[in-house]
Amino acid sequence: PTEQLALKERIRALLIRNQAVLVAHYYVDAQLQELADETGGCVADSLEMARFGRDHPARTLVVAGVRFMGETAKILSPDKRVLMPDLDATCSLDLGCPADEFSAFCDAHPERTVVVYANTSAAVKARADWMVTSSIGLEIIAQLHAQGEKILWAPDRHLGQYIQQKTGADMLLWQGSCVVHDEFKGVELELLRAEHPHAKVLVHPESPAAVVAQADVVGSTTQLIAAAQTLDATEFIVATDLGILYKMRAAAPTKHFIAAPTAGNSATCKSCAYCPWMAMNGLANLADVLERGHNEIQIDAEIAARARVPIDRMLDFAA
Ligand code: 13P
Ligand code: SF4
Repeated sequence: PTEQLALKERIRALLIRNQAVLVAHYYVDAQLQELADETGGCVADSLEMARFGRDHPARTLVVAGVRFMGETAKILSPDKRVLMPDLDATCSLDLGCPADEFSAFCDAHPERTVVVYANTSAAVKARADWMVTSSIGLEIIAQLHAQGEKILWAPDRHLGQYIQQKTGADMLLWQGSCVVHDEFKGVELELLRAEHPHAKVLVHPESPAAVVAQADVVGSTTQLIAAAQTLDATEFIVATDLGILYKMRAAAPTKHFIAAPTAGNSATCKSCAYCPWMAMNGLANLADVLERGHNEIQIDAEIAARARVPIDRMLDFAA
């Protein structure tokens, strides 16, 4: 703890010295979320992280999250320096959607409007008409569907299926998934609900359909935290990365949160429902990156300019 306190003090001083602001996701270590809050940064979902980074006057953004979040920040603020504690912090959705294969998929379906999830590389975004996050994908695709457009969707198949079901849109789905949310299990969730009949179920839409079908609320991380705070219940079953519990408990201190079951849930499993890439962000590598200024996000200018178009469309829609 003394070591942690000293590291935190060092980071505070380095943020000031670098005129930097910390932009963190709810899944990163609670210590980093606390620091972001205390130093005028933000802790948010993907949409809010993008907006916060774009609008903040700091010269340096330090993104504590995964690679696509740092890339989105850089695309929206090409003149800012964007650093990340670990540039290898990727995402299974991004890894499962290589730009060349995705491009070939788009070429094979030129009549479709290309909508990609935020959890993709800059090169994949550069090929898209729209980028969406979990907080706004449903509304955007509902509008495109109302305009008569057919959709090519990538990469998360569960989120795609959920949106398809809700909107009735014609969607061709890339078959990617999130290694964390894919592990939540429908039958085990039913059993857990039977043990907690009054609990409300909060589900991130990257989860399988059998889990989403049992949700009281389906939404982005910010939307799930808001639901925990506003819903009239004392118990909640939570199907998303458990890093979110730090903010859920802060937002609703008298309420009780239970982790949704995964294949690996047992007394011996301490790391179920934790994203391995989010976990690559820590106090030590955050301090280090601020000290040395390495791990800067670099994106080819032409790709970045093209990738900005679908992101701006989403932000304009959300405004
Ligand atoms: P949110 O945009 O809902 O925070 O989701 C990001 C993510 O990676 C979920 O796994
Ligand atoms: Fe990607 Fe899943 Fe990790 Fe989110 S939780 S960053 S979707 S692997």
